[in-house]
Amino acid sequence: MKKAKKQFVCGECGAVYPRWQGQCTACGAWDTLTEETVVDERQTKETGGKGGKKIKLEGLTGKEEQKPRLKTGIEELDRVAGGGLVPGSAILIGGDPGIGKSTLLLQTTAALAQKANCVYISGEESMDQIRLRAKRLGLEKTDVHLGTAISVRDIVNSLEGEEPEVVVIDSIQTMFSDLVDAAPGTVSQVRASAYELIRLAKRKNFVLFLVGHVTKEGTLAGPRVLEHIVDTVLYFEGDRGHQFRILRAVKNRFGATDEIGVFEMTEKGLAEVPNPSALFLAERRGNVSGGAVFAGLEGSRPLLIEVQALISNNVSGYAPKRAVIGWDGNRLSMVLAVLETRCRLSFANKDIYLNIAGGLKVSEPAADLAVAAALISGLTGKPTAADDVFFGEIGLSGEVRSVPQSGLRVKEAAKLGFHQVIMPKGRKSVTTNDIRIKEIGNVLSLVEALE
Ligand code: TYD
Ligand code: MG
Repeated sequence: MKKAKKQFVCGECGAVYPRWQGQCTACGAWDTLTEETVVDERQTKETGGKGGKKIKLEGLTGKEEQKPRLKTGIEELDRVAGGGLVPGSAILIGGDPGIGKSTLLLQTTAALAQKANCVYISGEESMDQIRLRAKRLGLEKTDVHLGTAISVRDIVNSLEGEEPEVVVIDSIQTMFSDLVDAAPGTVSQVRASAYELIRLAKRKNFVLFLVGHVTKEGTLAGPRVLEHIVDTVLYFEGDRGHQFRILRAVKNRFGATDEIGVFEMTEKGLAEVPNPSALFLAERRGNVSGGAVFAGLEGSRPLLIEVQALISNNVSGYAPKRAVIGWDGNRLSMVLAVLETRCRLSFANKDIYLNIAGGLKVSEPAADLAVAAALISGLTGKPTAADDVFFGEIGLSGEVRSVPQSGLRVKEAAKLGFHQVIMPKGRKSVTTNDIRIKEIGNVLSLVEALE
């Protein structure tokens, strides 16, 4: 008998190697390679089309009415999904263990149970555990159909005769398909199980939620190996130390990506946060140097966030420290270099700590101006005005460049009671009487404005 061929697969990104190695060269993750048997690729000879069926080709306008999107009534989720759930679509919900994925999906199915047939299948928790959670959330009376299973064959067989409209699989890493000779949680097993469930979802036209844990140790295949076979990928993120959670669309065949939904984890489950700016600014103390409020944008929605910089003298004798949380360290270096070169400020021999308050991650270049303001304020020890808001990208020559959606940012700042926006020049479209607008062309004017 031919010996089964072995290969090593990265649990993080799914890259395949003939030999084990410590780091995955494709995604850079360490210690994520596990040994798997090569799945029979069905000898890829040409078939010549013999025995195949004719595919029906049709026009772009279909005859059949599309089933409307299913609104969960949880605004934050509906918006991230692109305006409700699309029947027949597969949605992957990824996130760290304990972040609240099961809670979110239990609340979602409970919210939908009145108008849709919802099935929740758990491979991780017992019926009692789920019931206990439902009770804690006050949802024990809702008509959600619970099941515990890990065998994909059992699940498909059970759903075959039913008419489910929403099915949750919690989690895909616990599922087992007997078509593949590999342990649950391995890349081939996770993929095979997901494929089969997705095929069923498309055929029976139900919404399929797959929960996928992000694993740091690489012992389980991460949700990234499924990203290309599902329709929508949502990541549920947040800091365990903070109460808020963010649902972020990173791929969506039925809506915009980089849309976010904000939730707060309370003792009664996840609560929607319709006005996140207020949440992120809630603990802001005015009159402290090194803070500046950034008018950011997450997807279609403006978000005010506080940038904090702490600058202290470096007395260690080592190279000065540059610690950044929630922002890009390279961009910090760039902004510092621009301030040093163009404004003759000196950060030499200063330790710099930059933090985005609330544990949020900001990736927009539009935050440059707020970061610069926080740094200048931290250096001079003079607080920025408590009712000033900043946004704008900084270029290498010190110019302040315009960024998208100025109008939305200004409106959000006015709504939250700020009195002045410091922003790039030349956005005539922004007109408002609610807030003063100070347009600046370069970082030197920023230094002046903060004096
Ligand atoms: P869970 O949904 O089980 O996380 P996941 O499925 O992503 O692993 O959430 C677990 C955490 O949420 C747990 O640490 C407790 C917390 N939690 C609350 O704070 N309030 C609640 O009402 C619930 C149900 C959970
Ligand atoms: Mg869970």
